[in-house]
Amino acid sequence: MQLVDAPSEQEQKEREQFLQDVVEGLSQPQKELSPKYFYDTRGCEIYEEIKWVEEYYLPRTEYAILNAIVDEVQEILPTIKRVIEYGGGSGLRTETMVLNLKSLTEYLPIDVAMEQLEASAESIKKIRPDLEVTPLLGDFAHLPAMPECCPTERLGFLPGSTIGNFQFAEAKDFLTRINKQLGKGSHLLLGYDLVKDVDTLLAAYDDAKGVTARFNLNVLSRINRELNADFDLRFFKHEARFNSEKSRIEMHLVSTQKQDVTIADQSFHFAKGESIHTENSHKYSAEQFTRLIDGTGWKEQKTWTDEKGFYAVTLLV
Ligand code: AVI
Repeated sequence: MQLVDAPSEQEQKEREQFLQDVVEGLSQPQKELSPKYFYDTRGCEIYEEIKWVEEYYLPRTEYAILNAIVDEVQEILPTIKRVIEYGGGSGLRTETMVLNLKSLTEYLPIDVAMEQLEASAESIKKIRPDLEVTPLLGDFAHLPAMPECCPTERLGFLPGSTIGNFQFAEAKDFLTRINKQLGKGSHLLLGYDLVKDVDTLLAAYDDAKGVTARFNLNVLSRINRELNADFDLRFFKHEARFNSEKSRIEMHLVSTQKQDVTIADQSFHFAKGESIHTENSHKYSAEQFTRLIDGTGWKEQKTWTDEKGFYAVTLLV
């Protein structure tokens, strides 16, 4: 017999919140699930795989741009001391920054998971042992206060097109809160995905090897496991759609037949073809991005793109 530890109070609270969000989301006329539930251990592993998928051009394009511009960023900000990374520790991109910004003395990754923070602190220490690493626990809805020091030499770093996963109004609000959190005289280096031909976008979110499909479907396995549900994954399929009005890729899980699913004793009906909307990934043009930052306290200082014009990295002040 295998002994399993009883869940802690915190774990129970998280499970209740998860259940409440799932029930609420699946009770909407357009069923939906929050993308934050993609990222259980398995989901994080699949997302790491996505970053290397041929059609998913975002990480490698951003990495190439950052590599090409980091010395220039250092020239623009010759005395920059502190970098605050939102969603801390995005691998190669973080390394590029900490290795090349020579004036840096402190790195502050912000993340929801202590485990993730400790791992990124350790890897940063390995490549730049001279840096002080100050992990800050917090999520994007509740940004932690900045420890006092060097108020005019802060550079926020928001890579990975994370901003694209927020709705327009939420993204504006998030950027406004970052501006307040970092304070006067600070900068923000941010990566965002540009609008492009629909075929390229659809392929990036529905790759031939089916990695993104596994990522999307994994949320149903997670609900089965953690919320005692009975989704039959054979009867749901991954779909990526481009919503041109909102300039975004939407991921959906489409029910391939009429069916009922039980989640913790509650039943949910699915018509054939009905979908659960699981993620939005907004794609901006330069003009749309200017409208996005309008009123947030940020102004564009300089923007760099790759040769194909697929992706942008922008320095805001
Ligand atoms: C995390 N985020 C920026 C990714 C994106 O492109 O929106 C998540 C993702 N979804 C499918 N593939 C990648």
